Amino acid sequence: MKIVVTGAKGNIGAVVVEYARSQGAQVLGVDNVGRGDGLGTYIAADLTDLGSCYDVVHGADAVINLAAIPDSKLFPNAQTFMTNIAITYNVFLAAAHLGVPRVVWASSIQVNHTVPPHRPVRYRYFPLDEDHPVDPQSDYALSKHAGEMIADHFARDFGLIIVSLRFTDVVTVQRWPRLPEPIPPDERYPLPHYVHIHDCARACYLAATAPLPAGSHTVAFIAARDTHVDLPSRELIARYYPDAELRADIQGYDALISGKRAEEAFGFIPKFSCRSDALA
Ligand SMILES: NC(=O)c1ccc[n+]([C@@H]2O[C@H](COP(=O)([O-])OP(=O)(O)OC[C@H]3O[C@@H](n4cnc5c(N)ncnc54)[C@H](O)[C@@H]3O)[C@@H](O)[C@H]2O)c1
Repeated sequence: MKIVVTGAKGNIGAVVVEYARSQGAQVLGVDNVGRGDGLGTYIAADLTDLGSCYDVVHGADAVINLAAIPDSKLFPNAQTFMTNIAITYNVFLAAAHLGVPRVVWASSIQVNHTVPPHRPVRYRYFPLDEDHPVDPQSDYALSKHAGEMIADHFARDFGLIIVSLRFTDVVTVQRWPRLPEPIPPDERYPLPHYVHIHDCARACYLAATAPLPAGSHTVAFIAARDTHVDLPSRELIARYYPDAELRADIQGYDALISGKRAEEAFGFIPKFSCRSDALA
């Protein structure tokens, strides 16, 4: 199986490339950093350029599209929005025109919980799931929300299999020993969520390889089964979201985000918890 991984020099992309290769996939890594290796395993390309997208996705069985400006306030607002939208649209269009059947790409929890928010974030119920209304509050969050709408179009009108992974806070190996953390003193950040980077990479690979119907667009949160803060989840809800309905028996440090969709659609079950620090 040939998989193209974009954003291959980034934090998550580099781990995804390694994991996919360990599973036996032939992987072409793509990023706009440096230059290619001349071996067909890494090529440098600016994916805001449609022609480059055609070139790199050609012949792939699946694309895992992680290339993006990964947050607000790293570049001017319009640049973040335009860059991300251009990459997302171009990759889908190239895949659709060249018969690449599947695209998995990185959306974000920030469609629901933009950091920092401009207005207070409200939740109707917990655990939060993919059917909850979104509230993108930044150029970055908007680029992910718009990306999900673009994905709908390409699944519906071109028959692509698309998986939009709403990554939560992806914790690198370097940061992992510092978890669990105290709840941030700024009360605008009280929705705790995370996923270990190795779980995140496995989720990408499963989404790229599990059986899914043509023309389907699956949106799924990728989150650990617990929170990464030292405040019990029910206390956290009572303090910050007292009006939210509880739709499950949330106990201890249970996650406030549901992982059901990812588990049911492509078999992703997180293995890492910052409390056990071990593979489940
Ligand atoms: N890290 C997180 O916690 C998190 C959470 C939610 C979503 N995401 C999303 O996951 C993806 C990967 O995030 P990351 O943390 O690894 O970020 P990162 O910045 O480490 O990696 C992104 C990569 O994309 C590349 N890139 C940017 N513009 C490009 C272009 N025009 N053409 C080709 N390559 C380009 C960059 O060079 C970089 O290597 C992003 O889409 C990000 O929005 C990340």
